[in-house]
Amino acid sequence: MSLGPPRLRQRLSPGALLRGLLATRGSIQTPLAAEWRPALEAIGETRRRTALLMNDAAALQIQICVAAARRLPGVMAEAGVLMGGSARLICEAKGRTPLHLFDVFETLQDEHSADADTEPNPDLEAVRAHFGAVHGQRLEVERLLASYPGVLLHPGLFPRSALGLEALTFSFVHLDLDLPTGTRAGLEFFHPRLSPGGMLLGDDYDDPGVRQVFADYFAARPDTVIGLPWGQVLVVKQGAG
Ligand SMILES: C[S@@+](CC[C@H](N)C(=O)[O-])C[C@H]1O[C@@H](n2cnc3c(N)ncnc32)[C@H](O)[C@@H]1O
Repeated sequence: MSLGPPRLRQRLSPGALLRGLLATRGSIQTPLAAEWRPALEAIGETRRRTALLMNDAAALQIQICVAAARRLPGVMAEAGVLMGGSARLICEAKGRTPLHLFDVFETLQDEHSADADTEPNPDLEAVRAHFGAVHGQRLEVERLLASYPGVLLHPGLFPRSALGLEALTFSFVHLDLDLPTGTRAGLEFFHPRLSPGGMLLGDDYDDPGVRQVFADYFAARPDTVIGLPWGQVLVVKQGAG
């Protein structure tokens, strides 16, 4: 096959050279449709205001799923909020749908908190050992999200912090607790409460322990489980609860 001049020019264009270079590094470059430009701007603005612990593809995926879930019945949730970066992205896309946010926040360090006053708890110790002094501040997250309607914070160790919320159904859940034990608890609480067609977007899917939790949990369930190439996993609920 002959490589005529136009074909050659195309292959040597700056875009093609950039794509080739990125491909050798395991990355891709692709333009976004105009309707997704505001989502990209929301990611940039969120990074300027607070910490956002994910790459742009993962941040964009959150907004894509939230936008799709808005037409489904149910509220939205995030487990693992830290400084509120990904929660702000959910808020940007959710409209008036209520959003429930679960995180230990500063209760992890507070010896007088409800979580610390009870019996020794291996799950709490695991969270403490993993996150150390790194934690979000409830007040700062409240301030960051103050302009969005229907944001409800549930500080404390999950899943205990979800007690009393068993009657909720969810259209979208972002599960970002880092640890396999928390991830398992998140699947057990949220998955049965997802609306049909509802989505659970998990982070840390490149962690073998977290990936195993998803594999075990969904081994005998009919839901669609999609591993995304940037460390997330998307579960689409099939059938009733
Ligand atoms: C990776 S960070 C979340 C990052 C956030 N989603 C973002 O992208 O900006 C994980 C958070 O989950 C919290 N966490 C982990 N296990 C938890 C549990 N069992 N209960 C409550 N919070 C937990 C940690 O304290 C930490 O704030």
